[in-house]
Amino acid sequence: MKAVVFRAYGANDVLEIRDMPKPSPGPDEVLIKVRAAGVNPVDWKVRKGEARFLTGWKFPKILGIESAGEVVEAGPHVATYKAGDAVIASGSLRLGAYAEYVAVSGKNVFPKPENISFEEAAAIPIAGMTATVALRDKGRIGPGKKVLINGASGGVGTFAVQIARLSDAEVTGVCSAGNAELVKDLGADRVIDYREQDFTKSGARYDIIFDTVSSRSFGECTRALTANGVYINTLPSLSIFWNIFKTSLLPGKKAFTIMVGHKKADMEWLCGHIGAGRLKVVLDRVYPLEQVKEAFSYSETGRVRGKVVLKVI
Ligand SMILES: NC(=O)c1ccc[n+]([C@@H]2O[C@H](COP(=O)([O-])OP(=O)(O)OC[C@H]3O[C@@H](n4cnc5c(N)ncnc54)[C@H](OP(=O)(O)O)[C@@H]3O)[C@@H](O)[C@H]2O)c1
Repeated sequence: MKAVVFRAYGANDVLEIRDMPKPSPGPDEVLIKVRAAGVNPVDWKVRKGEARFLTGWKFPKILGIESAGEVVEAGPHVATYKAGDAVIASGSLRLGAYAEYVAVSGKNVFPKPENISFEEAAAIPIAGMTATVALRDKGRIGPGKKVLINGASGGVGTFAVQIARLSDAEVTGVCSAGNAELVKDLGADRVIDYREQDFTKSGARYDIIFDTVSSRSFGECTRALTANGVYINTLPSLSIFWNIFKTSLLPGKKAFTIMVGHKKADMEWLCGHIGAGRLKVVLDRVYPLEQVKEAFSYSETGRVRGKVVLKVI
């Protein structure tokens, strides 16, 4: 089968399209014929070796974490799926999604909502679950809460703005001027152009600041948080872990970071809202699998509006 493979960690030139053996599913796995696969910053961070302690040193590796496609075969312990079912696979750092076929644990496979394409479906897991966990679980979002989403036009941000809107929160999105209309259309009450105004210094206070692009520190954001406000970013680091520890000891403002995992309930929650038309996937560009380098180069600019996806078959 055709696959995007890398033989070492490095820049885009370590990537090649190669013929690889088709995986066979284990007893708890589902073999999926991949129709589309999501591109997230984590994919090129993996390529660079930034997660090497988790992804290991065994090469060649097939890249890719999340995908959507059709079930070819389900292992004997997976009763939920049968050949032909349209599904989303949230995958893991075992990788393998940038290929014509991928074997994924049955726990990480979900029915595709019927009202969306395979390209849209493949873009949901990482960005959608990150936004869900951040706002719902860490931020305890609810009606009337004042929420600021920094990076509102990106993959995580476009889900986050819509989830905040759905929760009847008061939503402020931060992005550059060219993306203001998109963010308003997704449900933001206000948009701040970060090139013109520093939200941490405007005097406004928020119950939740979700920094999807992790461009502002907890220290900078504390002045823009309400007394019990919550800051959440997406970049685990020593400094955020220190702030999480420190703020856990005292009442008042809290710091959190996200390490997205696989919670069946979260994907079901997201797919339920998407299936009912209450949330949508914002697709920016769809590249054929062969243009994975172009897709990564675009993602690495940091200018993606919504999601980038690879079309596989
Ligand atoms: N820890 C986890 O589990 C986890 C999970 C998912 C994502 N992440 C991380 O979260 C980050 C965001 O992911 P993503 O998929 O949303 O990325 P993305 O789609 O590539 O983000 C691009 C967006 O970021 C905006 N942006 C760039 N610089 C900005 C700034 N200084 N202020 C405000 N907005 C800015 C851009 O808007 P403009 O063009 O308007 O500037 C663009 O729309 C990545 O670093 C990713 O690795 C972590």
